Amino acid sequence: MHNSNHSMRDILLSLLQIHGATGREEAVAAWLADLLRPHVDEISTDVMGNLIAIKKAKKAGAGKRIMFSAHMDHIGLLVIDADEKGFLRVCSVGGVRINRSLGQPVVFAGGVSGVIGAEEDITGDPEMRHLYIDIGASTREEALARVSIGDVAVYAAAPVTLGEHRIAAPAMDDRAGCALLAWVLLNAKDCPNEIVGVFSTQEEVGLRGAKVAAYTVEPDIGVALDVTATGDVPGVKPKMAMELGKGPAIKIMDRASISSPVVRDAMIAAAKAKNIPYQLEVLTFGGTDAGAIQLSRAGVPSGTLSIATRYVHSAIETLDMRDMEQGGELLLEFVNGEF
Ligand code: CO
Ligand code: ZN
Repeated sequence: MHNSNHSMRDILLSLLQIHGATGREEAVAAWLADLLRPHVDEISTDVMGNLIAIKKAKKAGAGKRIMFSAHMDHIGLLVIDADEKGFLRVCSVGGVRINRSLGQPVVFAGGVSGVIGAEEDITGDPEMRHLYIDIGASTREEALARVSIGDVAVYAAAPVTLGEHRIAAPAMDDRAGCALLAWVLLNAKDCPNEIVGVFSTQEEVGLRGAKVAAYTVEPDIGVALDVTATGDVPGVKPKMAMELGKGPAIKIMDRASISSPVVRDAMIAAAKAKNIPYQLEVLTFGGTDAGAIQLSRAGVPSGTLSIATRYVHSAIETLDMRDMEQGGELLLEFVNGEF
């Protein structure tokens, strides 16, 4: 049934290698546009940098317009200055977690590498103002000759394979969703509904790309594709039901949206029709692009399909490829639904 040569794993691993900090998503968009252009009916970018790929319905004018959104951007550290010894001072773009940043290698879009340290002579836990990036410079001038104020570093760790099915890497949030969406666009055929795949920008600073794209697209149905946190590691707080390897997670609620029963129930029906395992997701913090799509214009019935991911917003975001593959199959069935 699926005649594409691009496996979910290959798409994901390629996407994980591309630099794409929040607000600097161009390289990710360019790679996706090259991949998708031969396989979709229309492809374009908008003012916010969203990449929008459209696969038309089999019968023109029939069916509904389903907008999917997966964000290309990845949290990072933005250079605000360098000190006289050449250490870069930074602020966060998106929800960078300080205790998960210490000791991490980072890389800038231009290829400059660095490592994250923190001032040691402080009392209490370090805050962002105590962090610095060491790029091997000795003076402020040398540092600012190699990187500019405003440049953004992201975690540089290479993907690590854990056992047969699991991969740990920075930027799973949300290249996992981008890989899912690309795979669906490559594999959907003779669909009764129009599929509008939005690869969105600036999700990590407040769903900004998706907000604009939803206005333009005017969808009948909205679906975000994103990672979600899990409750399946030792001592995790808060306790949550989501686990790796238990199938894609159908979101009930997070802090940005309560999923429309129209979308939620169609996802459950799609899973049941294809005997795909799934889990129900209640996330007590965070949100996805669904929060922006559902409030667009006069409102859009919206929901989220999530991939359970450990250590979200760290350099070792870990997911299970079986959840990705089952998520792709669920979505292929979902897009054939009647809404
Ligand atoms: Co995130
Ligand atoms: Zn995300």
